[in-house]
Amino acid sequence: MHVISIVGARPQFVKLSPVAHALEHQQIKHSIIHTGQHYDSLLSDVFFRDLDIPAPVAHLGVGSGSHGVQTGAILAALDGKLPDLHPDCVIVFGDTNSTLAGALAAAKLHIRIAHVEAGLRSYNRFMPEEINRILTDHAADLLLAPTQTAAEHLASEGLAARTVIVGDVMTDVLFEVRNMVSCHPSPITLELGFAPGTYSIATIHRAENTDNPERLNSIIDSLARLDHPVVLLAHPRLLAKSHDKNISLSKGVIIVHSPLTYPDLICAILNARSVVTDSGGLQKEAFLLGVPCTTVRAETEWVETVDLGWNDLVEPGDDLVASVSRPRPLATTARPYGDGHAAIRVGQEFLRHQAVRRCHQDAFFPNSAP
Ligand code: UD1
Repeated sequence: MHVISIVGARPQFVKLSPVAHALEHQQIKHSIIHTGQHYDSLLSDVFFRDLDIPAPVAHLGVGSGSHGVQTGAILAALDGKLPDLHPDCVIVFGDTNSTLAGALAAAKLHIRIAHVEAGLRSYNRFMPEEINRILTDHAADLLLAPTQTAAEHLASEGLAARTVIVGDVMTDVLFEVRNMVSCHPSPITLELGFAPGTYSIATIHRAENTDNPERLNSIIDSLARLDHPVVLLAHPRLLAKSHDKNISLSKGVIIVHSPLTYPDLICAILNARSVVTDSGGLQKEAFLLGVPCTTVRAETEWVETVDLGWNDLVEPGDDLVASVSRPRPLATTARPYGDGHAAIRVGQEFLRHQAVRRCHQDAFFPNSAP
């Protein structure tokens, strides 16, 4: 059995890491294709290095572009590359343009598709990620859901028969890295001289927050008037959009900082007073590290963080400022994202399907040698 992971954007490298390690441990042949959606070293190379991810067998180098151009370029490049590698299955992760293009390329070549992080929904069809995840789920053969809620979404769309709840693979890598860095001082406390618990970490990169200058201005103004330092980890998209619209990010209490490596980010969050973000992954990471989160979006895919009181969804302005100053939520023992062993279950599903294949021609791996 040969499994190929298709990845291209920062959060996918994090999800890939535990899966690559688990498949290696389970002696499943595994290769990686990097689409090149993210190409800056701080968004790509450092993740391969720090999370010990094997080098890709192919780098498609597609780079940036409009959604259609980027998705089309990845699809075309994979169409030429996948057949040469003879995979029995591809794995796609999450909801980026690389995810959808990977699923479409495989579907058109009659290669089986497994979707890690299947079933998340924001129910906001203006988000490019929502369209990517819906289409990917419906194209995929094996839906590896991180939570009960995600599995229920899939069931409501008629996809229950292809769904398995494995837990959240980001939780696997987070727990591992947290244990590694928990006794280290935060890079932010060392570099900027802030005592633990006195600063917030902020990230803003989504199209709905960066592409409308009034909204972006309002988010920056709200962060600038918090009553403690805010370290804004600036994604290239935020830098590009603020530069184009002449919006200064270094305002009030904001300190603009380049993105952190994954271990540094986890350490910085562990020592932070709160997190302000529009990232999906960071909301969950803050929850799992016991740090209150404020999310600048109208909805979230990780509803459990809100239901358990650790995440507030806010509009920019007074709501955002009040949310960051709210009292610390009640501690919870709930574990909605699994036990940190999701990636092993991903591999077990492949092994199970390979065993089924020995009895049924129409199983998940129809072309694989028994
Ligand atoms: C993508 C994902 C988003 C994910 C995010 C994580 C889609 C639709 N969105 O958004 O779900 O949360 O990755 O970061 O796939 N750029 C660089 N260097 C890079 C990459 C991008 O400068 O290495 C700049 C370019 O100006 C580019 C812009 O950032 O146009 C946006 O990058 P893109 O990959 O299109 O989307 P993200 O905003 O990163």
